[in-house]
Amino acid sequence: MKLIFGSDHAGFEMRRHVADWATSQGHEVTEVGANSTEPFDYPLASDAVACEIKKGAFEFGVLLCGTGIGVSIRANRYPHIRAADCTSVEMARLGRLHNHANVLCLGARILSKEESVAIFQAFMETGTDDAERHDRRVDFLDASLSC
Ligand code: RB5
Repeated sequence: MKLIFGSDHAGFEMRRHVADWATSQGHEVTEVGANSTEPFDYPLASDAVACEIKKGAFEFGVLLCGTGIGVSIRANRYPHIRAADCTSVEMARLGRLHNHANVLCLGARILSKEESVAIFQAFMETGTDDAERHDRRVDFLDASLSC
């Protein structure tokens, strides 16, 4: 699959690790954001990933920062993005099944390399559960806000 990875400085080394693993599995990976561990503002990585996904060239995005929280907050400002900050394989699985997540967020200061790869693998291997209740709830994510 065509994937876009983005990170700030805190996620840079983990991004490189997971991106290399993804490439070894046959995915076509593009990386944006930090080019090193020099400070890089995490919202800009989310912006780059969200905008590239909107153009339609990538099926999924992967965003990393220290916790996964900052990149997910910014990414979820975009209506076409459903970003899930996952700290376990089960969260990745359910994020795909129930929330139809299209961006995986990982916390490089929270997860080991092995955990990050396992979570990424689960995210990639899981499809969406298109039961009516899940489709309806995902539709609500895009509906007008209540206040
Ligand atoms: C950078 O120090 C850190 O704040 C950032 O990577 C991220 O964890 C923010 O959510």
